[in-house]
Amino acid sequence: MKRVLSGIQPSGTLTIGNYLGAMKHFVELQDEADCLFCIVDLHAITVPQDPQELRHNSRSLAALYLAAGIDPKKSVLFVQSHVPAHAELGWILQCIAYYGELSRMTQFKDKASRHEVVTAGLFTYPALMAADILLYQADLVPVGEDQKQHLELTRDVAERFNSRFGETFVIPEPMIPKVGGRIMSLEDPSKKMSKSDASEGAYISMLDDPDVIRRKIMRAVTDSEREVRYDPERKPAISNLLTIFSLFSGRSIEDLEKEYHDAGYGTFKKALAEVVVEALRPIQQRYHEWMNSPDLDRVLREGAEKASALAAPTIAKVKERVGFLS
Ligand code: TYM
Repeated sequence: MKRVLSGIQPSGTLTIGNYLGAMKHFVELQDEADCLFCIVDLHAITVPQDPQELRHNSRSLAALYLAAGIDPKKSVLFVQSHVPAHAELGWILQCIAYYGELSRMTQFKDKASRHEVVTAGLFTYPALMAADILLYQADLVPVGEDQKQHLELTRDVAERFNSRFGETFVIPEPMIPKVGGRIMSLEDPSKKMSKSDASEGAYISMLDDPDVIRRKIMRAVTDSEREVRYDPERKPAISNLLTIFSLFSGRSIEDLEKEYHDAGYGTFKKALAEVVVEALRPIQQRYHEWMNSPDLDRVLREGAEKASALAAPTIAKVKERVGFLS
């Protein structure tokens, strides 16, 4: 079986972009691969976090993973900081990655321009992400399109390490969905939907109330012309809404185009809002059950034990290879 690893930052509630681009696929992969899913709190602190909020967000993200369908009997669900080998390998890979290649990361440039303080951790972030993946010898990494460059860096760093110290790491492949790999903002379809957007109308949170979801969709920007048609170049806003509709309903985009082509944007948006509300309803319900259950903390404890055991041989081998005393 292939080994799969992916991670999500506990930095605020997930958006439907995170869900459609990543988490939904994690759930589907559980039956065909040996999966590990991580709550990457070490990554979250690369920008300032309130300690209370971070603790809450980490638990909340764990509850959301479980509510969305991650089954702890099939997959290992764990918190990154519970497995110290991530930080250890992260440091070693910082000493393999080059300053020049880290400087080229577009996500760093984007985040650095939006934050007043730019920490050294924000800069070396991709080396830690490489460590998350390489520590478990992952074959496949399901992510949204915005992580593609980080995956390329991971592969380069792994190849460099292997050629310098001998075969140590599996070279991982990114797994980016063809549809939904980049869900766009509801207010500006040229921008990615992001939980860090200053305007709440730009994204739908996984935990938004039904009425909030309806309002955000009804207010979402549309394009000129009246027809509902998939054309990302000329009709980016409607194409984004069609993508969301298709992924939540399981219906093809062609099928939706046929039904709503002449229906008008209002009718189309009303139907979309109901599809999103109904898809999120059971997830939200299970989320609240998990948040109130002591089982959540047990799952994370057991996840940390399993992940630590899986990471141990790799980190031991890496330390030996680079020349650390045993
Ligand atoms: P993060 O927490 O920003 O996002 C989690 C996942 O959601 C995807 N995503 C999207 N997909 C489609 N449309 C969008 N608008 C959208 N926004 C976000 C992201 O691509 C991601 O897959 N660096 C990572 C976390 C990470 C990681 C890892 C991932 C740390 N270590 C190891 C994979 C493997 C991040 O910040 O994701």
